[in-house]
Amino acid sequence: MAKRTIVALPGDGIGKTVLKEAIRVLDASGFEAEYVHGDIGWEFWKTEGNPLPGRTLKLLEEHKIGLFGAITSKPKDAAAEELSPGLREKGYVYSSPIVGLRQHFGLDICMRPCKSYKGNPLNFIRKGPGNSIEEPEVDVVIFRQNTEGLYGGVEWSDPPDIVYEALKTHPRFVKNFSSFPKNEISVSTRIFTKKHTERILRAAFEHARNYKYTSVTVCEKPNVIRETSGMMYKMAKDIQKSDYPDIELWNTNIDAQMMWLTKNPENYGVIVAGNMFGDIVSDGFAGLIGGLGFACSAQFNPDSGIGVFEPTHGSAPKYAEYDVSIVNPIAMFESACMMLEFINENEKANSIRSAIAEVISEGKVKTYDMMKMSGKPDVIAKGAASTQQMTDAVISRL
Ligand code: NAI
Ligand code: MG
Repeated sequence: MAKRTIVALPGDGIGKTVLKEAIRVLDASGFEAEYVHGDIGWEFWKTEGNPLPGRTLKLLEEHKIGLFGAITSKPKDAAAEELSPGLREKGYVYSSPIVGLRQHFGLDICMRPCKSYKGNPLNFIRKGPGNSIEEPEVDVVIFRQNTEGLYGGVEWSDPPDIVYEALKTHPRFVKNFSSFPKNEISVSTRIFTKKHTERILRAAFEHARNYKYTSVTVCEKPNVIRETSGMMYKMAKDIQKSDYPDIELWNTNIDAQMMWLTKNPENYGVIVAGNMFGDIVSDGFAGLIGGLGFACSAQFNPDSGIGVFEPTHGSAPKYAEYDVSIVNPIAMFESACMMLEFINENEKANSIRSAIAEVISEGKVKTYDMMKMSGKPDVIAKGAASTQQMTDAVISRL
């Protein structure tokens, strides 16, 4: 088979570290690919006024698959101060390259699996009958709509007159907000389209069917947010009835779900939600399976076949400066496995996951987070594995 080309997007800080390690693991799995480097992140903001240069978009357009580390981002004003002198006051405004990628390529499906590895000391435990300790197996996949909703970017402070007038046509606005001066109002919209709602719902049901999950849970708040959450739940009922009668449809409210996931997380299979609630519930479940060192994600557009695979953690700048890297690369390895599955290299993904599972269940090689240490350079002296040692351990099982 022809060699695949993968766009390697290390980004900033520990993004660079973990991506390099993931490529070592991919090589060891027998996955044959050529990696082309894509510029993204803070460095390019500072030197070019654009953290997501057009040449990087072109690379992704051409090769379709991106393996991404993490980026550093800072608030607007702090970002402006770090621009190189020649670029200042030229109207450059910082915006997140991750959101930029999603919007540019319409990566509307975000998938975040949270599956516990046996023997991971960070797994969620609870008290059972007679003070026994129970460690339920968590195996949840969250489907998060990735381009709309509260993160869609349609928002104003002191909204333009035409927007304000439009808001005043709503009786609730008149009743609850019209007594406040316009310049003291901020509005962030939550727009759901039928098209993208249907796509995320169908992706969730399809995944449930393909991977033998028995339920799909819509996690929104339709009793209060009637129009958007309400539309999603209604569409889910219709889709389930017509096309997925073999899969149970459950409906939970985001607030209650956050409570239940700390009580009976093993009850859930596939969860589907809008952008913000999907973000929240996936962080919640990630906490039950080990947190940022384990949480991976995929975002893709099924039509174009463009996909970007990344750990959910950030660039952790302080750890990037350590002489010996201490961060856990497993979230990045898991993201690489999602990439392999996306391009139908399931066997290699499975073998990497089995290798990780062996290392974890054996319990000899653990990064500092798995030893519940606070992240300092001295963790290695205290017995924690370095990032490279964890990689070596996984590779030795492949
Ligand atoms: P972060 O995820 O970079 O780090 C938070 C803490 O989590 C770290 O101090 C460390 O204790 C732990 N951690 C993170 N990754 C780990 C790993 N692989 N192994 C072990 N422990 C790990 O989030 P933070 O500190 O809020 O943000 C740092 C920078 O990253 C900011 O500039 C932020 O904007 C950016 N960021 C980027 C993201 C992305 O690229 N997807 C996501 C989140 C934040
Ligand atoms: Mg998040």
